[in-house]
Formats: sequence, structure tokens, C-alpha cells
Amino acid sequence: MNSEKFKTGWIGLGKMGNPMSKQILKAGFPLRVYNRSSNKIKALETEGATSAKTIKELVEKTDVIFIMISNDEAVTEIFNQENGIFTAEVKDKIFINASTISPDLSIQLSEELKKKNSYYLDAPVSGSVKQAEEATLVSIVGGEKKIFEKVKSLLEAYSKKAILVGKNGVGNSAKLAVNTYLGILTQGLAEIIQFSRTKNVETEDLMEILNNSALGSTFGKIKGEAAIKENYNAAFTLEHLTKDLRLAQNSGFNHPVGNATYKSFSSAEKELGAEDVIAIIKKLGA
Ligand SMILES: NC(=O)c1ccc[n+]([C@@H]2O[C@H](COP(=O)([O-])OP(=O)(O)OC[C@H]3O[C@@H](n4cnc5c(N)ncnc54)[C@H](OP(=O)(O)O)[C@@H]3O)[C@@H](O)[C@H]2O)c1
Repeated sequence: MNSEKFKTGWIGLGKMGNPMSKQILKAGFPLRVYNRSSNKIKALETEGATSAKTIKELVEKTDVIFIMISNDEAVTEIFNQENGIFTAEVKDKIFINASTISPDLSIQLSEELKKKNSYYLDAPVSGSVKQAEEATLVSIVGGEKKIFEKVKSLLEAYSKKAILVGKNGVGNSAKLAVNTYLGILTQGLAEIIQFSRTKNVETEDLMEILNNSALGSTFGKIKGEAAIKENYNAAFTLEHLTKDLRLAQNSGFNHPVGNATYKSFSSAEKELGAEDVIAIIKKLGA
């Protein structure tokens, strides 16, 4: 398969899948899309994508299939459902799973696909909607080097860097480490904003100090701004971050600050799951 002739497919046009798949189109690759709720498909068709009525149809009409959906349950479903991936002819196809899921599921899927003479990369991304829109995500990849090299130009359509970190599942493990750190940072930022407010420090001033110090970061700028404006519209839902902290726990993460962070987010999940991660501040009484 020559990379210049790739026909690409995309399953999952949510907050991340929408801007990421648009970058594939912008890079000049033909793209066919599928989303469970059909109302999200129009936006991509307007940009020049074609669509498929079923996942089976999408797989059979494309060579490289991206997956960007919620969690392990959703990924298991699209592989096994009626007209799902495993009902299609998958020989020689490459599946790139950018969803944040468990390493174990990636290993299992890669083994099942290998038996059918097809290939799988776990390729979760670091970054959020803004980075997807600017094509500056970081792709964290697990799988065979020769497959990675084959599709690297596709990953680079939405990533400023694509890094092969090991075999299947290792990409997911690295991503869980990154998101555990993200959880710790979010909890930490929320706690110091809340503390500062009780001491009459304006959040604007606190963020100006932080952003001009060695602790300044893109993350701090975006989440500090959200806290100042009390804008909790989700770029990354609290539900998804809690899912990632839980996956890390299930993979054996066991350290004091990360464990406390998981406890904090899981207790907020029911009430604040659909809001952005920084909404955790509401649980602190800020
Ligand atoms: N948002 C971020 O900042 C961010 C950053 C990095 C990684 N991630 C990860 O990327 C993945 C997607 O996140 P997102 O923010 O784009 O989520 P989202 O906006 O909630 O979109 C979820 C997507 O998954 C689909 N889906 C869910 N359950 C499904 C099922 N059973 N069968 C078929 N499709 C299903 C949804 O389809 P419908 O439209 O039909 O509901 C939608 O296309 C997650 O694993 C998340 O942890 C997110």
C-alpha cells in the first residue's frame, strides 16, 4: 500500500474526532466518515468527506481506519456489533485507534486483527480541541514500527509529533501516565485558586503570576481563563478524565497524589461529568 494512495476512514466525530478528521482532509487524503449519531456527519461532508451508512461499509471502502470514540465499551461495541468492524473483510487494512482506552483492550484487538491479516496501532493523543484544530497534538503510538512508518504522514496531519513508544498497548500506558499528570495538575490548580480566593487574591492576579513564572503553561492559561470566567463548557469532559484515572488505577497505578486525585474526580463524576475537567473547582467550594 503506497501512502500517497491511502483511502482513509474515520469512526467517531465527537469533540476531538471532528477537528482531527478535518486535518486529514486538509492534508489531501480522501476521507470517508461514520458517526453513530448521523447529525455530526454533515459538517465533514461540507468539508469534502464522503460518508458510510455502516461501519462495515466504511471499513470495506477504505485502507486506513481511524477510531476516535469514548471508551473501552464503545470500542468493543464498534468491533463486535452488527455491521461492525469484525463483520467486514479486514485483510491488509490498518486500524489506528486514537481513543484513550485500556492497554489490555489494544493488545486484545491487535491480536484478533493479526489473525485476520490486518494491523492495529494504539495512537492516543495528548492535547485537546484547540490542539486538534491547530494540528499540534502529540500522537503516542504503540505497535509495529513498519506500520507506524507507513502511516506516520497521516498521523502528522493532526500531530506536531508522532512518537512510537513500544508494542501494542504501550501507547495507551504512556497516555494514561500523561493523563494522570493532567488530573493531578487540574486538581492542584483548582485547589490553589480556591485557597487564594479565601485569602483575597484575585484569580486574575494569581494566573498572571503563574503564567509569568517558570510554572507558566498552555494548560494553566486555558484552565485559568476558564476558572476566571467560570466557563465550564467541556473541551475535555470530567467524565473522560475520570475514566482515564480509573484506567490507570486498573493498570496498577498506586501513588498517593494520583490516588487522591482519582478519588476526588470519581466523587465529582456523577454531578459534573459532562462539564470540563476544571469544574472540579466547584467541589472545593470556590
Ligand atoms: N476532548 C479532549 O480534550 C480529549 C483529548 C485527548 C483524548 N481524548 C479522548 O478521545 C476520545 C474521544 O473524546 P471526545 O472528547 O471527542 O468525546 P465526545 O465528544 O464525547 O465524542 C465521543 C464519540 O464517541 C462516539 N461513541 C460513544 N459511544 C459509542 C458507541 N457505543 N458506539 C459508537 N460510537 C460511540 C460518539 O458518538 P455519538 O456522537 O453518536 O455520541 C462520539 O462520536 C476519548 O477516549 C477521550 O478520552 C479527548
